[in-house]
Amino acid sequence: MPRKDYLSLYQLSSRFFTKGRLSLYLTVLILGTVVTLWSGGKVSYLMPGGLSSPHRLFETNCMSCHTVWQRVSDKSCLKCHDRPVHDKNQLVTPICTTCHSEHEGDISLASVNDQSCIQCHTNLQTKDRTLHFGNKIQSFNNGHPEFKISVRKTQGTRRVGLDETAHLADLARMKFNHYLHLKADLRGPNGPVQLLCKNCHRAAVDGVRMAPVTYQMDCKTCHDLSFDPNAANRLVPHAPPEEVRAYLMMAITDHYAGRREPEHARRLPGNPSSPRPALPSQVSQGIIETERLLYNVTCNKCHTLDKNHVPFPKVEKTAIPIVWFPHARFKHETHHQLKCVSCHQNVSKSRATTDVLLPGIQVCQNCHRPDRARADCVTCHLYHEPSEKRTGDGLFTIPHLLKGEREKTSFRTTETQP
Ligand code: HEC
Ligand code: HEC
Ligand code: HEC
Ligand code: HEC
Ligand code: HEC
Ligand code: HEC
Ligand code: HEC
Ligand code: HEC
Ligand code: HEC
Ligand code: HEC
Repeated sequence: MPRKDYLSLYQLSSRFFTKGRLSLYLTVLILGTVVTLWSGGKVSYLMPGGLSSPHRLFETNCMSCHTVWQRVSDKSCLKCHDRPVHDKNQLVTPICTTCHSEHEGDISLASVNDQSCIQCHTNLQTKDRTLHFGNKIQSFNNGHPEFKISVRKTQGTRRVGLDETAHLADLARMKFNHYLHLKADLRGPNGPVQLLCKNCHRAAVDGVRMAPVTYQMDCKTCHDLSFDPNAANRLVPHAPPEEVRAYLMMAITDHYAGRREPEHARRLPGNPSSPRPALPSQVSQGIIETERLLYNVTCNKCHTLDKNHVPFPKVEKTAIPIVWFPHARFKHETHHQLKCVSCHQNVSKSRATTDVLLPGIQVCQNCHRPDRARADCVTCHLYHEPSEKRTGDGLFTIPHLLKGEREKTSFRTTETQP
């Protein structure tokens, strides 16, 4: 029986177990496993971690993002997504994967950490070397500027912080006094009433904003548009002056022609003693006098009018702002537990439309801070310009999307069409 050469076995220098051969056997074994898994479509074993749920579609198709011997580049992402800009003014554009990491399983691809934002915003530099926004932001609770609104001034629009009270203004061209309307004993059509915010401000369908205040829904019950002192329930339509004129023309012509409704015997300016066909001069005189009263007293109560405008005064656009903070997002619905005045603190003291009634940053910082509600940048901000979003017709057929490749022909037609 031959003696075993234990020494050469341990030194991996026997006939079968040399160092070279052992490396070869192992390499063949690994490659074999890889090829078997790959050809069996079980490539996901090779992934560093599970794909994010929107991309799980491509789990059997690694090449939709990867190219051989190269790191994943923006080119792969842009095959399926548009190039979404952040700000035209940014000096550099970080690659997609600095913010959207993959193979981390079911975390949201868009849960981007603050570091991705403050890499620029802590010491913001711009292409045109001017700064339009705060440039020393470390976090929402450290260095974030007071919220600002755009205020039109004679020398153009300026962004004014909510703490610069002297320069702030709500520029709606509308007269409104919150203080008066929120008094406990406001005169209503059937006696005193206490109005609440929700009488005029109701959540819009999307839960984000308040639906716009309207005359019909929110003012009409107490401020009607009667024009005839002797028939208080005859009303002009709440409409542009052209339509008001057309209505009055008809009403006054009818009146002179004697076609008055029996229930209200009205007396209009220049009322003749007996009904007969209207003279054009009488009708126009009646209209002029009725309109003078109507615009000076009724419309003027709420509106800014250009009274020198002919042939009738012009009602200025009300321009009640709908979006105050275009650079952030805020949803009323999420905060429905709170009283309205906990954020809009000075409403019941406000006597003028020009008062700005929005909450400043410290109101939000009560809750949005590390030990309470989320305070990362992406809670409140987008990164990609939303208007750049593609909507509607995409570029893929179902099989092509599953393969992660564009169909050559449809790609060409889409690209060449104007
Ligand atoms: C939706 C796109 C996408 C798909 C599909 C995808 N990956 Fe990745 N993969 C990435 C990104 C992004 C990285 C990070 C690359 C980087 O940081 O450069 C990555 C990294 C990797 C890495 C680490 C090495 C490296 O390149 O940094 C491996 C290995 C890997 N992927 C394997 C796979 C395998 C196997 C599949 C198919 C089962 C797959 N991936 C499918 C996007 C994808
Ligand atoms: C083959 C097509 C394809 C490729 C390549 C691809 N994606 Fe996607 N991506 C999709 C689809 C489909 C969705 C799900 C629908 C949607 O949200 O647009 C998606 C969703 C996303 C989302 C939204 C996730 C969410 O939570 O709403 C992000 C972010 C994203 N992809 C980033 C990337 C990045 C970064 C790359 C490059 C590494 C990439 N994608 C490569 C097809 C692709
Ligand atoms: C500095 C960080 C950052 C970079 C770089 C970045 N993203 Fe995003 N991305 C975000 C954030 C934050 C969101 C979620 C908010 C939003 O939609 O803007 C997001 C959302 C998305 C979405 C889903 C929302 C949508 O509009 O459908 C897609 C797709 C996307 N990014 C693709 C890309 C691609 C492709 C690139 C590279 C060209 C890229 N991103 C680069 C931060 C970044
Ligand atoms: C590559 C640098 C860079 C990165 C990364 C970056 N920003 Fe910006 N951001 C800018 C520049 C530049 C401006 C424009 C500044 C100016 O014009 O004064 C800007 C403007 C903004 C504005 C105000 C204007 C607007 O368009 O809304 C907000 C809000 C903002 N960034 C949030 C973010 C968030 C959130 C992130 C992270 C997801 C982020 N930024 C990441 C460079 C960057
Ligand atoms: C009788 C109707 C009415 C009631 C009741 C009312 N509002 Fe208003 N509100 C208006 C009108 C009209 C405007 C638009 C004019 C303006 O911009 O000031 C407005 C504007 C606002 C604005 C935006 C304007 C700005 O300058 O910030 C806020 C915020 C607001 N209201 C909050 C409230 C809150 C909170 C309550 C309850 C405490 C309330 N309102 C009750 C009619 C009403
Ligand atoms: C519940 C009844 C009620 C409702 C609803 C109501 N008002 Fe009034 N409003 C009054 C009363 C009462 C006065 C004080 C007497 C007057 O001037 O008519 C008044 C006064 C006004 C004044 C004059 C303010 C001043 O400081 O002298 C304006 C302007 C006005 N309201 C606008 C509106 C607008 C706009 C709406 C709808 C968004 C509205 N009101 C809804 C009852 C109401
Ligand atoms: C009690 C207050 C009130 C009175 C009185 C009033 N309005 Fe208005 N008006 C409003 C409100 C609130 C709006 C904005 C929302 C809407 O369109 O209902 C408005 C809007 C308008 C608009 C649209 C303006 C724009 O922004 O384009 C016209 C036109 C108009 N009114 C005409 C009149 C005329 C003409 C009269 C007089 C006959 C009149 N209004 C009387 C409250 C009033
Ligand atoms: C709780 C919500 C919230 C969070 C968290 C938050 N912001 Fe803001 N941010 C706002 C609001 C609201 C505005 C005012 C938006 C406007 O002016 O339209 C704003 C304004 C800005 C502006 C414009 C500043 C200016 O000078 O007007 C920049 C830049 C900005 N934020 C960046 C960031 C960055 C970076 C982070 C993360 C470190 C962050 N924000 C976190 C709510 C938030
Ligand atoms: C957590 C604070 C918060 C609470 C609570 C809150 N608001 Fe607001 N509200 C805001 C902010 C922030 C904006 C500015 C949003 C924008 O336009 O970008 C706003 C805007 C408004 C506006 C201006 C128009 C609009 O819809 O954007 C009105 C009106 C308003 N709020 C009424 C109310 C009423 C009524 C309530 C109670 C039902 C209420 N708010 C509760 C923070 C709050
Ligand atoms: C009483 C505490 C409180 C106050 C005050 C408050 N928030 Fe919030 N907010 C929350 C909570 C809780 C959430 C839910 C957080 C989550 O989903 O993790 C939230 C969510 C949000 C979100 C993201 C989710 C969504 O769908 O709306 C935004 C944006 C936001 N708040 C902005 C603001 C702004 C801007 C202010 C100041 C005007 C403010 N919040 C004031 C408690 C508050």
